Amino acid sequence: MSDRYIDFANSSLGHRLVAAIGLPSPVRLERWQAGRLRPVEGALLLGGGALAAKVLPFANKLTDAIYSYGTDASTAPAWIPGHGPKLKAVVFDASDLQHTDQLKQLREFFQPLLKNLDNSAHLVILGRAPESLGDPFAASAQRALEGFSRSLAKELRNGGVLQLLYVGEGAEDQLEGALRFFLSPKSAYISGQVIRLQACDTPVEDWTRPLAGRKALVTGAARGIGASIAETLARDGAEVILLDVPQAKTDLEALAARLGARSVLLDICAEDAASQLIEHLPDGLDILVHNAGITRDKTLANMTPEYWDAVLAVNLNAPQVLTKALLDSGTLHDNARVVLLASISGIAGNRGQTNYAASKAGLIGLAQAWAPLLKERGISINAVAPGFIETQMTAHIPFALRETGRRMSSLGQGGLPQDVAEAVAWLGQPGSGAVSGQALRVCGQSLLGA
Ligand SMILES: NC(=O)c1ccc[n+]([C@@H]2O[C@H](COP(=O)([O-])OP(=O)(O)OC[C@H]3O[C@@H](n4cnc5c(N)ncnc54)[C@H](O)[C@@H]3O)[C@@H](O)[C@H]2O)c1
Repeated sequence: MSDRYIDFANSSLGHRLVAAIGLPSPVRLERWQAGRLRPVEGALLLGGGALAAKVLPFANKLTDAIYSYGTDASTAPAWIPGHGPKLKAVVFDASDLQHTDQLKQLREFFQPLLKNLDNSAHLVILGRAPESLGDPFAASAQRALEGFSRSLAKELRNGGVLQLLYVGEGAEDQLEGALRFFLSPKSAYISGQVIRLQACDTPVEDWTRPLAGRKALVTGAARGIGASIAETLARDGAEVILLDVPQAKTDLEALAARLGARSVLLDICAEDAASQLIEHLPDGLDILVHNAGITRDKTLANMTPEYWDAVLAVNLNAPQVLTKALLDSGTLHDNARVVLLASISGIAGNRGQTNYAASKAGLIGLAQAWAPLLKERGISINAVAPGFIETQMTAHIPFALRETGRRMSSLGQGGLPQDVAEAVAWLGQPGSGAVSGQALRVCGQSLLGA
């Protein structure tokens, strides 16, 4: 589904008109293209405390233009405001900030950069999780980073995005995988997010094919976001198994043929779905993506039992039952990655979606509750919560609501299936065991539930 307003706002006449009337002026986001090698194409600026120095040893694998600003710890050339190159990526380590008066370092560091950011710039702030700190003032300073980063993310222009990464003790080694994602166009539609990294001892061996040797199952893979997830996992080297309902046979088999993947025709709500699935996966599974989902929207006053039951069965009960069966049967390997497709509806709530929002919030709760129990086996489980994504599902939304959904975010536009797929692929990496029990929003910093 194309967004004609973006096309118009980026035409030469439209650009002038939109600016003159004061309408939102969303830019075309830079996205990862096939064949690209470097996460950052342009200048990367490092600043702040000692964690920034931990980035230096691998920074030259991100880009060959590395600069430092406001720090002595770095051997990179100094960046001078107004004279240095435009910045494509920025990492600021704020983990040393322990008192209120030190927070001004945030203003001092970021203010001079803001007029020197390239289009679609990616900014990351590093901190320490407040709950991990014994000193209440230090915890308060680190929590302050959250308000700062979410607000600054809303002030960025020209497709700029910003995240806060709380780096746990021992998780410093996981910075490379996280920054390869959050500094690159793979995270084009993610902004204002707070992610916690923990120690993880399964490294990525080959960054050009981070999922090589991993077997991945994607449910609801015949179209939309699921098809894009399957393509992206295959691009990253995974052996992909595609699942969808028998009615989707033609699309599913066409995609499977294109990707050289296997396909499974199965309704995930069938009585014997778990045993059938286990039979289809004799060699086990390393990545499980519960993407299949449906909507049956009605206000609660008009909600039929059929609408309620169908949504809860597909969206919540099936992922619960199937994941448990795959765990109990040993089909899901140690160090597996489980990703559940939730929604910002499950965070913010949405009129007409009590059933859908309950199912998606339930998935977030499932990830949070299961993560500590699966840690011993090295298995991570996370939810990805998309905002407004351009698919057949959202194409059916009435025009006015659709336009509102698109524009009500910091990036002023809907995301693409690829944006969700990139987040799932990142969470599927061996090194992404560093993230578990979390909900990653892919929503352009939607105002809903923010
Ligand atoms: N599109 C969005 O804006 C958006 C936003 C938030 C969350 N999501 C979630 O992302 C996921 C994918 O969304 P989409 O827009 O690509 O949806 P879609 O309707 O285009 O695709 C869903 C796929 O799931 C399959 N499916 C449905 N019921 C199934 C069942 N019982 N067994 C097996 N397969 C089944 C369908 O056949 C279809 O191929 C869903 O979980 C959805 O709730 C989408």
